[in-house]
Amino acid sequence: MGESLVCVKDFERHAFSVLPRNALDYYRSGAGAEQTLAHNRQAFSKFKIRPRCLRNVAIRDPSTTVLGEKVEIPIGISPTAMQRMAHPEGECANARAAQAMGTIFILSTIATSSIEEVAEAAPYGTKWFQLYIYNDREVTRKLVERAERAGFKALVLTVDTPMFGLRLADIRNKFVLPPHLKFANFAGDKATGINTTESGSGLNNYVNRLFDQSLEWKDIKWLQSFTKLPIVVKGILTAEDAIIAADLGVAAILVSNHGARQIDGTPASIEALPEIVQAVGDRVEIYLDGGVTDGTDVFKALALGAKMVFLGRPALWGLAHSGEEGVKKILNILKTELDYALAITGCATIKDIEPRMVVPEGYYSRL
Ligand code: FNR
Repeated sequence: MGESLVCVKDFERHAFSVLPRNALDYYRSGAGAEQTLAHNRQAFSKFKIRPRCLRNVAIRDPSTTVLGEKVEIPIGISPTAMQRMAHPEGECANARAAQAMGTIFILSTIATSSIEEVAEAAPYGTKWFQLYIYNDREVTRKLVERAERAGFKALVLTVDTPMFGLRLADIRNKFVLPPHLKFANFAGDKATGINTTESGSGLNNYVNRLFDQSLEWKDIKWLQSFTKLPIVVKGILTAEDAIIAADLGVAAILVSNHGARQIDGTPASIEALPEIVQAVGDRVEIYLDGGVTDGTDVFKALALGAKMVFLGRPALWGLAHSGEEGVKKILNILKTELDYALAITGCATIKDIEPRMVVPEGYYSRL
């Protein structure tokens, strides 16, 4: 059965046929009319690969270094909430798959497995913790302390989310988390406030009630005042914000439009990448997520200046297929596709990828 699924699209199709409506719509949706959702993927085709020939690619190595640590592939797992709707082991299975593949797993604040459960499930893998900041700042401080204690290696502060975007299907479905699941990092209302809604998306109601909409750049200093963990800022789409973040001393920027789930009409993340690389690429590490579904997407992002890419939905489709095994299959598919891309463009290692190997399609119409 698994062998007939040979690309991310195949796993997506499979997930669409097996996931319950409530969960599938939540995972799949983008904001509003979902123009950016489609564009996140299509925009990769606006960049063309200029392969080089005869450069001895007999021995190839896709590993790289991120925040000082070696990763076996430049493809990690982005934080996505509520993974136990896709598979009973949810985030634990996803983290184990990342560990087995030698890559990074980012755990969401609003996960259905706790920081400690994930640390126990994948003790040797590199794990980062994604932060949403609650009105009650003590909540955030405690999460950070727990992540540090559990051996997480970085904090990924999501900065594109004063509110959650309007995802129409979730409003129609009155999305709530099934009663056997909860936000596992919390107790009381913060854990189970997502299990009911009076009207509209239960998730939006939860977030509007509990997340801090008054966050400002200075709050990064507040975070730095009590943690030594490197901070990765996730959700930046402009050079202007990238410069502010770099000036504040963050370690890295994850260029992202949140999988097109926040505001429809933003550029695809691959389109936003070049201006951010140009602005701060010499000062901080830069990563990308959004629409990555093929090894050539990874190759293009790396050529345009990303050190690493991350997957959101593709990992969920892997989980829905067969838990840890399914996510490993997804990562192996992308690893193989990247290996082909490296070989056929004349790159034995990631360092051999040169900026001029990927150009915007306008490059050719000018000729
Ligand atoms: C997300 N994303 C997200 N981001 C974040 O910082 N915290 C979170 O809890 C979540 N939750 C979440 C749930 C679901 C179902 C999706 C699809 C996305 C955004 C995520 O980290 C990432 O930016 C995108 O998913 C990347 O795009 P692709 O790979 O899904 O196209």
